[in-house]
Amino acid sequence: MAHAEAGGSLPVPNVQELAQTYNNRSDEQIPENYIRVEEAAEEVILDGGISSAIPIIDVHKLLEPQSSKEECAKLGSACRQWGFFQVINHGVPNEVISSFKKDMTEFFKQPLEAKKVYSMIPGNLQGYGQHFVVSEDQKLDWADLFSLVLRPIDSRDMRFWPSHPPSFRSSVERYSSEAAKLVSFLLKFLAMDMGVEPESFLEIFRGQPQSMRMTYYPPCRQADKVVGLSPHTDRMGLTLLLQANDVQGLQIRKDGKWVAINALDGAFIVNIGDTLEILSNGRYKSIEHRAMVHPTRKRMSVALFHAVCREATVGPLPELVKNDGEARYGSLSYMEFVKRFFAAKLGGRGHVESIKTS
Ligand code: OGA
Ligand code: NI
Repeated sequence: MAHAEAGGSLPVPNVQELAQTYNNRSDEQIPENYIRVEEAAEEVILDGGISSAIPIIDVHKLLEPQSSKEECAKLGSACRQWGFFQVINHGVPNEVISSFKKDMTEFFKQPLEAKKVYSMIPGNLQGYGQHFVVSEDQKLDWADLFSLVLRPIDSRDMRFWPSHPPSFRSSVERYSSEAAKLVSFLLKFLAMDMGVEPESFLEIFRGQPQSMRMTYYPPCRQADKVVGLSPHTDRMGLTLLLQANDVQGLQIRKDGKWVAINALDGAFIVNIGDTLEILSNGRYKSIEHRAMVHPTRKRMSVALFHAVCREATVGPLPELVKNDGEARYGSLSYMEFVKRFFAAKLGGRGHVESIKTS
């Protein structure tokens, strides 16, 4: 697993427990490490208006011969202008999504002791805990997460796969394979949009490497002073995000401002990660995003990250470099790329910018 060699994170308090303690005690402020007044107060544009809503891509339209070309152009433009879009009519069966959501909810609902069995262990990023905590005095995110490597199948570490609820493993498996199919389908259309050979493009994602991060954002009485998930870009190729309950909280950085995303019921939010920005020679944008929390309601989301295979080179595709007359990013082995990611502090677009050639 790519993460394993990169080392884990310092242990942090369980936020679900913290929330239980502090949300009922109006006389006491939540711990200082979580207070991020300035960040939390940054201006946010609500995703109500046409001008700020991310594009919606309809998979049916991609499939229908009479609308396919137009929808593919819309998909390409979403990746260039926004780096984010929502997909509808995506073909992942409702029942697969709802069983997975149910089991995920069940998992987080258990007492801490039961979840602790799956705690992250040093040097490994899988399991229950938090990522990217490197110092004692760092500001912390108001969330707990659970991370698993799902694909290729032989890279699964079953020690971290919960055995409760009993259907958890099969729900995750079905969700994972349906999502992987959808992602391959989208990647094929991205290849067409970029004008590269779809078969060879998909070859870069051989084995459909996929990892999952389920995030539980407890409510916070001082929600206007905390951040659920720090601003970051996703490192991998394509992320498929499912908001698992009806509490909104995702914000993306567009033209310097935060734009709140209104996740459509039944849709996936898809975004371009650093690797895909680089492969595309900068056509597609890996956009900074963060998540905020709700004062009285928990929020849950699950991100599936789709990476290139371990043997791949992370660098602009040769056809595109030829076409553009220049490589706008350096090329490195996937392993080198991962190492650099973990050496850089999580935050903003710093990592992908550092790979640019000028
Ligand atoms: C992520 C992510 C956003 C959310 O897990 O990388 O950006 O809404 N999640 O939870
Ligand atoms: Ni993300």
